[in-house]
Amino acid sequence: MSSPIGSSHSQSQGNQQWGGRYSAGPSAIMEAINASIGFDRKMWRQDIRGSLAHAAMLRHVGIISADDEAAIQEGLKAIGEEIEGGSFPFSEALEDIHMNIEARLTERIGEAGKRLHTARSRNDQVALDIRLWVRDAIDGIDGQIADLMRALTDRADEHAATVMPGFTHLQPAQPTTLGHHLLAYVEMLGRDRSRLGDCRARMNESPLGSAALCGTGFPIDRHMTAVALGFDRPTRNSLDGVASRDFALEFLSALSICATHLSRFAEEIVLWTNPYFGFVALSDAYTTGSSIMPQKRNPDAAELVRAKVGRISGSLLGLLTVMKGLPLTYGKDMQEDKEGIFDAAESIALALAATAGMVRDMKPDGARLREAAGAGFSTATDLADWLVRELRLPFRDAHHVTGRLVAKAEARGVDLPGLSLEEMQEEEPRIHSGVFGVLSVEASVASRTSYGGTAPVNVRRMAAEWRERLA
Ligand code: ARG
Repeated sequence: MSSPIGSSHSQSQGNQQWGGRYSAGPSAIMEAINASIGFDRKMWRQDIRGSLAHAAMLRHVGIISADDEAAIQEGLKAIGEEIEGGSFPFSEALEDIHMNIEARLTERIGEAGKRLHTARSRNDQVALDIRLWVRDAIDGIDGQIADLMRALTDRADEHAATVMPGFTHLQPAQPTTLGHHLLAYVEMLGRDRSRLGDCRARMNESPLGSAALCGTGFPIDRHMTAVALGFDRPTRNSLDGVASRDFALEFLSALSICATHLSRFAEEIVLWTNPYFGFVALSDAYTTGSSIMPQKRNPDAAELVRAKVGRISGSLLGLLTVMKGLPLTYGKDMQEDKEGIFDAAESIALALAATAGMVRDMKPDGARLREAAGAGFSTATDLADWLVRELRLPFRDAHHVTGRLVAKAEARGVDLPGLSLEEMQEEEPRIHSGVFGVLSVEASVASRTSYGGTAPVNVRRMAAEWRERLA
């Protein structure tokens, strides 16, 4: 019988309990489960930034000498260059990015390197680094969302009067315009930015100086490091400073919502590019062919954007589960925050780039959209509204008359404007030829001038407003 990790044969050479690939014994297993350098090296810039601020503060309050600070500065700068150039000797035995950099610093500058960790712990160091990383990520993602919003706004303005079917239940409901539809996503994305902005504002406190958990007896200046690192203030409670990751949960939650929005749009692209819809076409830049079916053009980019929300919201749920029930303060469990955060940030960045690309690439088929907009008796509501306005019918009665007219049109195989006046008068004798003025899709969309409504004049105005806001 084989164990989950290795076969019983290897047990004699390796560890008695585990064997298998961990033949070097329990310390190798410990190193493998403990090390985070494989992924937290992504935070090297943040780690160096934090250490520079910490060293400057240590010198400022007299804990280290000016010479030590200068040596630390130079050493960290050189290490940054090593990492960037790919020559840094990353070591799994040194566990994480913090110890890798610190060990290398001491290797390079000696004594002074060993003083850097005064009045600091890896607990506040990692809390700082991941906060800085998330904050940087928010700024990058925010810029990308803004770019997507600009792309959508440009296309919306261009297609302010391009009629298309509006759906509820994915059934034809009322005619709308492509511009209005695209601006709906601009609104959603605007709230996504606002959520990320709230998250950023709330998380913008520095945990550095919380030390291991209880603060320190050294006369450190936490306000100084907070300001140097662009924070509004230091965190107020050292236990909270090292124990809390709710900023990361909030970040992942905002990303999950944004990814959900992207997923809805991606699904629409998948539908719209399907030949049965034929609403828009994507170029080769965002589609792939099939290895066996030569006629195919698959919307892979849209499908992957549709899917990315799975891993992004998975990261949120993962971290929620890691943090649930975790006693104060730091627990190594929290090392499990990073991969989900990194993956979610990278995934949303890719999804945003692909979506912006598709928005700029897509070619709407105006004639097909126009045809589809008129199908399914989509101006039935306009007819009912006309009966209310012109004939003073109560809306419920107008709804019934319209229903009978739709049934009649359906039976004759025509759309609503295809019924003759006589046919309409059979259902309601007071109907006059003025009714035909409201039955076209163009008239329908043009009439919807209520604030936030679908009328092309509204769409143009909104697009202009957004353009100004996004400039
Ligand atoms: N690699 C660790 C993490 O990501 C750093 C903090 C380790 N602190 C400790 N006391 N072991 O959480």
